[in-house]
Amino acid sequence: MPTKKSTTSSGKLTATLRIGHGDSVKEIELPMQSGTMGPDVIDVRQLYGKANVFTYDPAFMATASCESRITYIDGEKGVLLHRGYSIAELAKNGDFLEVCYLLINGELPNAEQKKKFVHDITHHTMLHDQVQYFFRGFRRDAHPMAVMVGVVGALSAFYHDETDYNEPHARMVATYRMIAKMPTIAAWAYKYSMGQPFVYPQNRFGFAENFMQMMFATPCEEYQVSPVVARAMDQILILHADHEQNASTSTVRLAGSSGANPFACIAAGIATLWGPAHGGANEAVIRMLKRIGSKDRIGEFITRAKDPNDTFRLMGFGHRVYKNFDPRATIMRKSAHDVLNEMGMGDNPLLPIAMELERIALEDDYFVQRKLYPNVDFYSGIILQAMGIPSRLFTAVFAVARTVGWMAQWNEMMDDPGRKIGRPRQIYTGHTQRAYVPVKRRA
Ligand code: SDX
Repeated sequence: MPTKKSTTSSGKLTATLRIGHGDSVKEIELPMQSGTMGPDVIDVRQLYGKANVFTYDPAFMATASCESRITYIDGEKGVLLHRGYSIAELAKNGDFLEVCYLLINGELPNAEQKKKFVHDITHHTMLHDQVQYFFRGFRRDAHPMAVMVGVVGALSAFYHDETDYNEPHARMVATYRMIAKMPTIAAWAYKYSMGQPFVYPQNRFGFAENFMQMMFATPCEEYQVSPVVARAMDQILILHADHEQNASTSTVRLAGSSGANPFACIAAGIATLWGPAHGGANEAVIRMLKRIGSKDRIGEFITRAKDPNDTFRLMGFGHRVYKNFDPRATIMRKSAHDVLNEMGMGDNPLLPIAMELERIALEDDYFVQRKLYPNVDFYSGIILQAMGIPSRLFTAVFAVARTVGWMAQWNEMMDDPGRKIGRPRQIYTGHTQRAYVPVKRRA
């Protein structure tokens, strides 16, 4: 039955739900809440108690799982704000560690705060020397995301349960450790797959520069990181830092709601991000562009993407929230040209295929009607590939960036005095109770 929005005599916003039909209609009044931006919410916490019914929203298409002050997306307008600052301004004027400070603390750091934060993160980039042995248990051809899940999960054994994460200081130490160590873990996953020795972090480098040198330096010669490439990597990290309650962030929040060790929660977030519908899409985009191979085959793939009986989808297109250009994709597209030109790869064959694919898709009714635009993953793979990063490592780079978002959201959840363990209900459509039948009497 329709729900009506109204205000009580005290001016409070309420929703009245009419349940039933004919003479047996029951009216349930539910409180509503307004945020600073975005849709109002109907608070359904009393619904089961008042009406003995649940709400049903399997993929959380219209369900707010929490209150947050960290990131805001306006999907219709293609707006992304971190603590009120637009992603375009942060990507243009800021750097990744400054955005990390903002996401965690709620404000941009002043010069002194920034200097201390950079120092503290830099001095947490090393791994306990025993951690290197976790890599050696994997085959050399193990997918880096499998390695990341395993090694990050193992960190929970290094900072163990006696740490009380209800203590804000313990949470901040875990936050610094996680942000600082992810580049080292991702770089070592790459080195291990290449059969090259691990390269240690160097405190003289910036965050993105350090990540690049740990990936590509060897003991044989000095390694110089191109400033353009380091800046492009820093910008990629900013663009992937946080994104409201996406699948991996929701996983970290749900795991954390039980009081689980934060490193184990981040391992669960990495596992979720790995999926091709989520952070694994950047690797899938490159595979797709290589499969298309040339502009004249684009039509064939567009047809397949539109065929409801074909599971093929255009990787890097579409988004649960953005029904306009993903602002991160817009920034990434420009950066792709800069990096390719810097790397002398302006003739990269995948870029013209990507540009033509985007042009065709944006004119095609199927995509226009469904508001399917390029998302953050569409161009990121082209830039990462131009930097010499193998496609199997793309999602690990996404995880390095998203760790600050996961930790900021985990802290916000742990800080909430009303925190409760997340435990969704269900609609049951299985058998009603039935008697056990001994095997001799079964058909
Ligand atoms: C990320 O949540 C986040 O914020 C995620 C992220 C972040 O920063 O954390 O932004 C990062 O994960 C970006 C998304 C990366 N994934 C991909 O690029 C994979 C390809 N995209 C699709 O799988 C899809 O668009 C999703 C998963 C991103 C969104 O799927 P939804 O919201 O569940 O939408 P849907 O699958 O219901 O699609 C609606 C319609 C369907 O057609 P109809 O049933 O209405 O006929 O659009 C179609 C879909 O078939 N559709 C596509 C398509 N994406 C959706 N058709 C062809 N190609 C596509 N890419």
